[in-house]
Amino acid sequence: MAEFIPLYSDGDVDTNRTLNRPLQSIIEERYSRRQTIRSAVMASTTAFLGTTLLAACGDDEDPDRSGATSVDAGSSADTNSGRVVVINGSLLGSGTVQWTQTGGPAVALTGATTATPSFIAPSVATATTLTFQATATGSGGNQSIDTTTVVVNPAALGFTAVAKNHADIVTVPAGYTVTVMTKLGDPIAPGLSAYRNDGTDANFAQRIGDHGDALHWYGLNAAGTREDFSNTRGLMVQNHENLNVQYLHPNGPTGGSAGPRPAAEALKEMEAHGVSVTEYVDSGNRTWSYNQNGALNRRITPNTPMAFNGPVRGSILLRTVGSPSGTTGTGTINNCANGHTMWGTNLTCEENWAGYFRRPAALDTARTPRERTALSRYGVTSTNGNYAWWTAGTEPMFARWNALAIGATATDDYRNEPNTFGWVVEIDPYDPASTPRKRTALGRMGHEGAWLSRLVEGQKLGVYMGDDSRGEYLYKYVSNANWSAADAQSADRLGMGDKYLDNGTLYVARFNADGTGTWLPLVFGQVPDRAAVTNTAGVVTDPAYAFADQADILVNTRLAADAVGATPMDRPEWTATDSVTGEMYLTLTNNSESVRSLARTDAANPRHYNDTKGATAPVPDPATPAQPTNQYGNPNGHIIRLRENGDTSGATAFRWDIYLFGADSEEASAANVNLSGLTADNDFSSPDGLWFSRPTNAAGMVNPLLWIQTDDGAFTDKTNNQMLAALPGTVGDGGQRTITNTARDGTTREQTTFVGAPATIATLRRFLVGPRECEITGVDTTPDGRTLFVGIQHPGEDGEPNAPTSNWPQSQAGTTSGRPRSAIVAITKNDGGVVGL
Ligand code: FEO
Ligand code: CA
Ligand code: CA
Ligand code: CA
Repeated sequence: MAEFIPLYSDGDVDTNRTLNRPLQSIIEERYSRRQTIRSAVMASTTAFLGTTLLAACGDDEDPDRSGATSVDAGSSADTNSGRVVVINGSLLGSGTVQWTQTGGPAVALTGATTATPSFIAPSVATATTLTFQATATGSGGNQSIDTTTVVVNPAALGFTAVAKNHADIVTVPAGYTVTVMTKLGDPIAPGLSAYRNDGTDANFAQRIGDHGDALHWYGLNAAGTREDFSNTRGLMVQNHENLNVQYLHPNGPTGGSAGPRPAAEALKEMEAHGVSVTEYVDSGNRTWSYNQNGALNRRITPNTPMAFNGPVRGSILLRTVGSPSGTTGTGTINNCANGHTMWGTNLTCEENWAGYFRRPAALDTARTPRERTALSRYGVTSTNGNYAWWTAGTEPMFARWNALAIGATATDDYRNEPNTFGWVVEIDPYDPASTPRKRTALGRMGHEGAWLSRLVEGQKLGVYMGDDSRGEYLYKYVSNANWSAADAQSADRLGMGDKYLDNGTLYVARFNADGTGTWLPLVFGQVPDRAAVTNTAGVVTDPAYAFADQADILVNTRLAADAVGATPMDRPEWTATDSVTGEMYLTLTNNSESVRSLARTDAANPRHYNDTKGATAPVPDPATPAQPTNQYGNPNGHIIRLRENGDTSGATAFRWDIYLFGADSEEASAANVNLSGLTADNDFSSPDGLWFSRPTNAAGMVNPLLWIQTDDGAFTDKTNNQMLAALPGTVGDGGQRTITNTARDGTTREQTTFVGAPATIATLRRFLVGPRECEITGVDTTPDGRTLFVGIQHPGEDGEPNAPTSNWPQSQAGTTSGRPRSAIVAITKNDGGVVGL
């Protein structure tokens, strides 16, 4: 109960604590203003429903003997970090009230002169008591005070798990609100018309692109310049990976997969790729909208000029008719996951770029054997390229997608154009005139993302990168330069990128069976020849590959990683680093029996099993086949994590375990498949997006909250794609385990691995389910953690222009018509608390 504490005030000290009367008598007797105050309190209680409320206690005391006021600070309460606490005090009588904090970690009190102030519980590592004092001052100057306490416990998941579903909306927990932000086609330049969404719109160089993927918030101050901690105005930088091409044109694309494609269609499709930079604004209390006229709004497309930096700049491998010096390139494509730097730049990653090029190997007769090996290792073997853009005209913007060696030399054609993609590209979002720089020291692959290590003053900077194809590898780049926090606010942001990202060592990971791992350097002179590849009949299908120099190693990173004996993984997707422990997490989205047979199962990719699809769907799904489909391999994926030796990003060895295994909890064997003990509240499949909450709010400070997004096709008989929130432990919190795997033919094989602690409802919960046929990808918050931004990619991807299979985002507001559009949603907690807690 609140204790009434006498106040010393100019000699007029009221120490009489015996004349207090029941609240009701006070109301009835004298204090007409009480009703007004009471109404305010009631309104406040309603508005903050679901928060921690300090209810007024029943022993209200009245110090009054002279027509002055009294105050009741409410009873004590418990809460958790990140939650909104409303102190439900009451002021008796006419006068004013002033709240102050008298103990515990400082918080910002909202409504400090009202009866019901509120604050967001701070981040704490152990239960911590905060004390507050209310001082009431009557019209005669008489004062009384009361105090109350709030015990804050460490951050915990604070929402009810969302049920799996096939609804055509973004479903979030009770107490949360979804606001649709920028959508495919939205104009981001002055004067540009609204998107008609019927296939007739053009000029995607000034509109939001398609297939929004990774995203990141870059704060702006009132002057419109960089302010990292701004929560109310910022630049949303989003990747645009690919297309739902059927919805981009009135009746879908024309010209066929072999072309010729109409130039206008091809241009539109190109420009709908790339990256967008769009100003987002909160007009008050997290009422979000975007600013079409933002001064820093920008589209970066496959046609935007780029510079090459790092060891490959100027290499003969980058020389094309468009850049005979091999120092510049044109555009970026298939931008998937991302990274961001402490100096305020964005790292966009080129993932499945190979398929955009035309290069049927049989027609490419002028190539050397080495070139053939390199091109086939990266899959540059498409007959016409994904959208046959090379057929749309003779202008360079079209012709460059034809990678056949057809000219006299490499600077007479586009044979090396594929070498200009597959990089991590650094963008300065605060300077729309800046030329993005391709950072070749980070290697060339199917770059999923590029997430920085925890930065420590005086230590080298690490960048963790997955190469997303079946059986590809995990990489780490380590800078030569040691991190200096003074560089974070440099005005020359891309110059900081030159310092940290152009000079360093690229490593690839080998995961050992004993739970240790090794980073293998990809350094010319230390990398042996990539051995010849033979087929099962012993015939050489690919000759040995000898590296010419470091540029060759960085352009042909996959070949170098093969040569040093890296561990093939189950499709490496996003990386994320825990800013408290420094541990790195990597999603391994799934793998199939055709690529990883039972015999090739290993400790780091340990499961081989069947997850049937379509057998027991609890909700009818139109896409579900009538008969269950067998899915052998690792259809549900897992998340591996590692801790560097010595907790330094430059370490060359690490320990690892598998944090979490995806599974269908209704059918998976607990002994061999559902190794994390998933339940209906948290079962998932095919993890892809992965991100730890920012260390600037309670969700990212003591035990950072991990967000997991899925891009799944194996579990979609049970639910649309989803996002979960987790509170992971640390490497080694589980133990060694041996499971029995089973192949399609019934063969079994034991496999020992290292499994993290099982998930519980306290450590893993489904936060969101997306609309039909979408993937959930892209996640960030404002620095205060009170707005979560999430990307909804390719809803209705299997539909037709005039028969869409999703109507999202129109459906979010109840409209069940119109073509679907990828979009970002802003998710806020109705009481204003930190999202997820
Ligand atoms: Fe573009 Fe690997 O997801
Ligand atoms: Ca299943
Ligand atoms: Ca992805
Ligand atoms: Ca994906």
